[in-house]
Amino acid sequence: MNAWVRSGQDGPGRTNEAVIGEGTAPGFTRGTIDEIIAGRFACRAFSDAPVPRHIIEQILGVARFAPSGANIQPWHVHVLAGTARDEVSAALLRAHEEARDQHVSEYRYYASELPEPYLDRRQQFGRLFYGSLGIAQTDTEARSRQTARNYAFFGAPVGLIVTIDRRLEIGSWLDLGMFIQNVMLAAAGCGLQSCPQETFAKYHRILRSLLSIPAEQMVVCGISIGHANNAATRRLMPRAAVNEFASFRGFEN
Ligand SMILES: Cc1cc2nc3c(=O)[nH]c(=O)nc-3n(C[C@H](O)[C@H](O)[C@H](O)COP(=O)(O)O)c2cc1C
Repeated sequence: MNAWVRSGQDGPGRTNEAVIGEGTAPGFTRGTIDEIIAGRFACRAFSDAPVPRHIIEQILGVARFAPSGANIQPWHVHVLAGTARDEVSAALLRAHEEARDQHVSEYRYYASELPEPYLDRRQQFGRLFYGSLGIAQTDTEARSRQTARNYAFFGAPVGLIVTIDRRLEIGSWLDLGMFIQNVMLAAAGCGLQSCPQETFAKYHRILRSLLSIPAEQMVVCGISIGHANNAATRRLMPRAAVNEFASFRGFEN
């Protein structure tokens, strides 16, 4: 077991195990912001229970209170449900099946050569993620089938496509990240789970035409939102302990 997954105290009353739970986060008081943050996980299996429009409006209505430099609020969201969601899914699944090499994201999410400790963490992610699905990491066909599930929004009744104006700078992407996290936390506050998905960025040309996304907007990611399927109500991924990413100075003791 490497250092970043070791169990132990992450803070008062918080162990790494504290964030591995059945939809909630043991060790946190139910309903508190800490519990909501620690109880969120990338959900990749949703039930088909519908999520009505007013709930999504409520989630976005809360998420818009994310901070942004000079309050420019650089987020744009396309909310998809029903036949609109199905149409997008069908088009992207077809592209993934028939023409995946002809599509590329407009931005690079990952560095081409990940330095440590990020490389080690990504490898751990691969082992845990594909291991949980019974997929050998060398099985490219099975991995591709798993990637395809992204385009069906993992069965979620609602999918968001998030875009940002390409004329904005990297600082606005910070703002957008805060907004996206707010969306997921607000969803969790409503008893819903979510999955942020950069896999949608690859098919921006198809999304642009289907959703009439203006040329100046760049597709950043999708977000699936819905009720977690019973089989998927837990977090798989551990976190590094606080002392591995934070240094403290000036405190007594
Ligand atoms: C911006 C962003 C994009 C992501 N894209 C995908 C994706 O395309 N498909 C996917 O299955 N998970 C995706 N994830 C989920 C991450 O794999 C997940 O957040 C990470 O492994 C930690 O797990 P946790 O969120 O359950 O704690 C993405 C996460 C973020 C923040």
